[in-house]
Amino acid sequence: MVTTVIPVEPFDLVIFGGTGDLARRKLLPALFQRWRARQMPENARVICVGRQPLSDESYRSRIETSFREFPVPCVEDREALGEFLNGICYARVDVNGSDGWSELRRMLRQDVIRAFYLSVAPSLFGVITAMATEWKLVSPDCRIVVEKPFGHDLASARNLNAELSGRFDERQIYRIDHYLGKETVQNLMALRFGNSLFEPIWNSQYVDHIQISVAESGGIGGRGSYYDEAGAMRDMVQNHLMQLLCLIAMEPPAQFEADAIRDEKLKVIKSLGRVAKDDVVRGQYLSGPGVASYRDECGDPVSETESFVALRVHLDNWRWSGTPFYLRTGKRLRSTLTEVSVAFKDPVHWIFEEQANRKGTSLTIRLQPNEGITMRMTIKDPGPGGMRLTEVPLDMTFAEALGSNAEAMPNAYERLVMDVIRGNQTLFMRGDEVEAAWAWIDPIAAGWADLPGGLYMYDPGSDGPVQSHALLHRDRRDWQGL
Ligand code: NDP
Ligand code: BG6
Repeated sequence: MVTTVIPVEPFDLVIFGGTGDLARRKLLPALFQRWRARQMPENARVICVGRQPLSDESYRSRIETSFREFPVPCVEDREALGEFLNGICYARVDVNGSDGWSELRRMLRQDVIRAFYLSVAPSLFGVITAMATEWKLVSPDCRIVVEKPFGHDLASARNLNAELSGRFDERQIYRIDHYLGKETVQNLMALRFGNSLFEPIWNSQYVDHIQISVAESGGIGGRGSYYDEAGAMRDMVQNHLMQLLCLIAMEPPAQFEADAIRDEKLKVIKSLGRVAKDDVVRGQYLSGPGVASYRDECGDPVSETESFVALRVHLDNWRWSGTPFYLRTGKRLRSTLTEVSVAFKDPVHWIFEEQANRKGTSLTIRLQPNEGITMRMTIKDPGPGGMRLTEVPLDMTFAEALGSNAEAMPNAYERLVMDVIRGNQTLFMRGDEVEAAWAWIDPIAAGWADLPGGLYMYDPGSDGPVQSHALLHRDRRDWQGL
């Protein structure tokens, strides 16, 4: 199987925050891979903006150093790296002042696609869009890309939306949730809507419950000040877990088209029911051998921010009424793993002898690492001794099934940045979707202080606070292991 690469049109991409962590670790490496794949045309131009006084040459050599440090895949391809770096320019602009804007305008071409990537704190979105308009950088078809966090709550998300929509049409605004750019997340749609096998049983009549786990073994790293304001609920649930939930639960869209999909996702978010206080478990990691505690990492010895959250949620709609969705995410857990597991009900009429510890049928979609699908099936335990049942996995790892083609799959940012240039908004969040997500999150976060158990501590390397198990045990269910 050969991956098809369709080159995009020539473009000028301006990255505000070009000296920042995201640009160095994710955006520029992603563009380098697209350059190597020849999807990025030779006359594409990337202009990286920062406040530091750097020449093009010194900026390029910084990027080369960080590519080697990480290291970025194929960095040893010196010829491609040299060509790629030559197409990058640096512009020094403090966006709060007027210096540098006219020089930046001179760098932009008239006859190519123009995109502005705001890889900066959201507090700078307003000033950048205002200055870019004032200095006539904005063209009628330019795209504007904004990173998460898109607000801290409903009110701030509305303000950001108002700031952007005052200057741009919704069709020009690309709100990033990088989970949507992951191949395996897009695979959720391919599986559901490309196989007639699943759709007839994808409802509360057949599905007992659904689990979504996004576990990370790492801590908060150097992002303590941001994370301590956000916590797991705002950092992960409001966006990544919510998007996974939408793709799993939504109705089939009429077409595979941006607004058709986003309309269906919005309906899912709007049908999320209120979450009861005893359906929420918040946790925070302690220290362990060679591992600092959350409070030490974030620098606040009395921080009450959650690094783990588990929720039992329900959708008040025709398809899912009566099927609980259990969501959990956390840092410093036993392993790094993202998976969605759909547990099916037993057949309506059970003809075999009852057996203790029977797990039943389930479909698990592993999104990372080791992407693939496992169907757990009930079969007869082989051998004499009567009709005993057992469960076996029908396992498919995408890497094995797709062979070397799996390695050629673009990572999330590669896909998303190319989609911006192509003008395809399917994998980006619409303004109303983001606001609806905050409208659901806000009352939960506002009730933190009243949670029955407060904040539970957990050991690093565990699977979170034991109370998260109680959330499922209460319903005679278990989390699938991390
Ligand atoms: P950094 O703190 O590493 O970088 C911030 C960038 O903003 C720097 O390039 C800085 O330039 C620039 N900047 C700050 N103030 C100004 C100004 N007045 N004028 C011009 N440039 C300015 O942040 P990150 O790269 O980590 O994050 C960027 C955005 O992406 C944030 O919103 C973050 O939440 C989001 N994000 C980041 C992720 C990550 O993995 N890093 C993941 C998901 C989202 P200078 O160096 O010159 O000061
Ligand atoms: C980011 C969160 O959006 O996603 C981080 O801010 C988290 O806290 C990261 O670690 C996880 O992304 P991935 O692609 O590594 O699963």
